Amino acid sequence: MEIILAENHGFCYGVKRAVEMANEAANSDGKSYTLGPIIHNPQVVGRLEDKGVSPVQEVSDIAEGTMIIRSHGVGPAIYEEAEEKGLHVVDATCPHVKKAQMAAYELSEAGYQVIIVGEKSHPEVKSIFEWSKNRAIIIEHEAELNDIVFFNKVGVVAQTTFSGEEFQKIVNSLIERVENVKVERTICNATEKRQEAAMELANQVDMMIVIGGKNSANTTRLAELCLKKNKHTYHIETVNEINDNWFNKGINTIGITAGASTPDWLIEEVYHKMNQMENFLGDDLKEIQQGDIVQGKIISIYNNEVFVDIGYKSEGIIPINE
Ligand code: F3S
Repeated sequence: MEIILAENHGFCYGVKRAVEMANEAANSDGKSYTLGPIIHNPQVVGRLEDKGVSPVQEVSDIAEGTMIIRSHGVGPAIYEEAEEKGLHVVDATCPHVKKAQMAAYELSEAGYQVIIVGEKSHPEVKSIFEWSKNRAIIIEHEAELNDIVFFNKVGVVAQTTFSGEEFQKIVNSLIERVENVKVERTICNATEKRQEAAMELANQVDMMIVIGGKNSANTTRLAELCLKKNKHTYHIETVNEINDNWFNKGINTIGITAGASTPDWLIEEVYHKMNQMENFLGDDLKEIQQGDIVQGKIISIYNNEVFVDIGYKSEGIIPINE
């Protein structure tokens, strides 16, 4: 059984940075809170809680101490509220999100009608909207352009994880309708890279394991895309969900990927378990004793050595002169 990790998997830059900042805050004096769960991964949130960093919903839930802003970012009113309360603020907003927020702010200041392309209910989109002084129009689909009465000049900003292809379609349609369109392509390609690598791998292997929070939109999307390419796709949060029944005959290659909010240690636990399964299944396949005559298939010949597959745990190597 061969286990292959997708080329791009796990924590993206912004999530890694946010978790590191939360861990640093955990090691400092005083109590720390994250405004909402730091990332959409219950295991990471649980570990931080064990270290004394608790998620809260509102600034008003914090009496004193440190408030950590997660990678999705927040609107300007939250910074003001925290300052009024005298809270120490650790700003873990992803730099890509910050760029989108500032673009919305500057476009709004310059008199542009701001359009945000993204999911209306996503916390990141809400934060970009608030930086546009609550003036932007949020759309997710090209058809929604039909309902807008346009100003003379329009500025477009994207949710960082929005599909580049879909965003371009909307921009093209907008250019046909409005003369002065300023496009801020605030898309981060971390999600796209993970999706491409996962789909490519799902195409090659017999089974695909996608690791990450069930509440994580990007992991769920990865699992959906892999399922389209490979019907033996399983979305798990932890190693405990691996089911022995998945490893029936015909499963010789297994691909592993993980969403941008899945930490390395969860991926390593799954990888380790897979390797154990490989040994277990291998033992189950054949009992070979010294002196047995077995049939095998030559896989390759390299440097005077012949590699032979006899259906055991690993290939046998025989000197070519034998
Ligand atoms: Fe930032 Fe991109 Fe990750 S926007 S949080 S680096 S997916």
